[in-house]
Amino acid sequence: MVDLEKIKEKFLASLSVLTKEAEVLNLKSEYVGKNGAVSEILKSLKDMNADERKAFGPKANELKDFIQDQSTIHLSKIEVLEINKKLAEDRIDISLTDQVLVKTIKHGGFHPRTLVQQEIEDIFLSMGFDVLDGPHIEDEFHNFEALNIPADHPARDMQDTFWFHDPHDEEAKDKTGKKRLLRSHTSTIQVRGMLGRKPPFRFIAPGIVFRSERTDASHEMVFTQLEGMMIGKDISVANLIYFMKTILAEIFKKDVEVRLRPGYFPFVEPGFELDIRCLICSGTGCSVCKQIGWVELLPCGMVHPNVLKAGGIDSDVYNGFAFGLGLDRLVMMKYGIDDIRHLQSGDLRFNSQFKLF
Ligand code: DAH
Repeated sequence: MVDLEKIKEKFLASLSVLTKEAEVLNLKSEYVGKNGAVSEILKSLKDMNADERKAFGPKANELKDFIQDQSTIHLSKIEVLEINKKLAEDRIDISLTDQVLVKTIKHGGFHPRTLVQQEIEDIFLSMGFDVLDGPHIEDEFHNFEALNIPADHPARDMQDTFWFHDPHDEEAKDKTGKKRLLRSHTSTIQVRGMLGRKPPFRFIAPGIVFRSERTDASHEMVFTQLEGMMIGKDISVANLIYFMKTILAEIFKKDVEVRLRPGYFPFVEPGFELDIRCLICSGTGCSVCKQIGWVELLPCGMVHPNVLKAGGIDSDVYNGFAFGLGLDRLVMMKYGIDDIRHLQSGDLRFNSQFKLF
């Protein structure tokens, strides 16, 4: 008769030195697998007489269960060991301080445009303005017609627009039959904003615009504007000036001196150029203000009745003002950047200089 105790001891001795899952599974199958030692013993039970079977059967079955249980326990021990080993390997010493980490990890910064845009959005939000967005690819209705610039109007040439394909090409038209273009100003969002709203309302719409222009220190083909619109009853030029002064004082964190000059934009009547006293030289003249002492910053005006009509608003009852802030110029004034092309350069040495306010 086989000695079950011996088998058990031998099994335990072999098991105790195993460190890999596969080894344990092999060992287990050597004993209790289909042709394993213990399985063979169990098979031989049928050849025993009744008494022997009674004495031997339960013990052999017990041994089988024991081997299975011990294998399972050993497998989970191996698993725990492996997890601990991995944890130890992957450990990060968070006590490593500046001297080591800061030297090797480069910190990015927000693009200065993003910083200024976020700050201005917050100012307008606190004054009850919504912040809207619009598509970069536009149609001539939103870029021109709705803004009181019909086809063949000379004002279409004020902005060098990027058209899609040949203007005579049928494919360049969208499903309404209008020709498509890259928006040349954020004023496109005026009509989009008006159409979904009932006066009184006020909103701003920041975003990039595109013009086919020769680039130099103060001109880029892609630049940023922030459009604004406020519609209600009995709004006057005095309201416009007050609002603009308040907002500029918030942006520059000090009172700014402004002056209005007449300016022509088909979508406003009257239209103005709002200049601010140069903050770099306080008006004595410098390269930023081209020695004039004033910086042209904010074209604006009272919204033309035709534009209100295009936006579905009754121009006999409501009126309002609109403005188009040159965001890039503001960014340049704020950070003393002397060439607009830096903003678009993608040069990390430039970009990473700017931190949150
Ligand atoms: N869209 C004009 C431009 O890009 C700027 C502008 C002028 C916007 C007057 C306005 C405005 O809202 O009232 O040149």
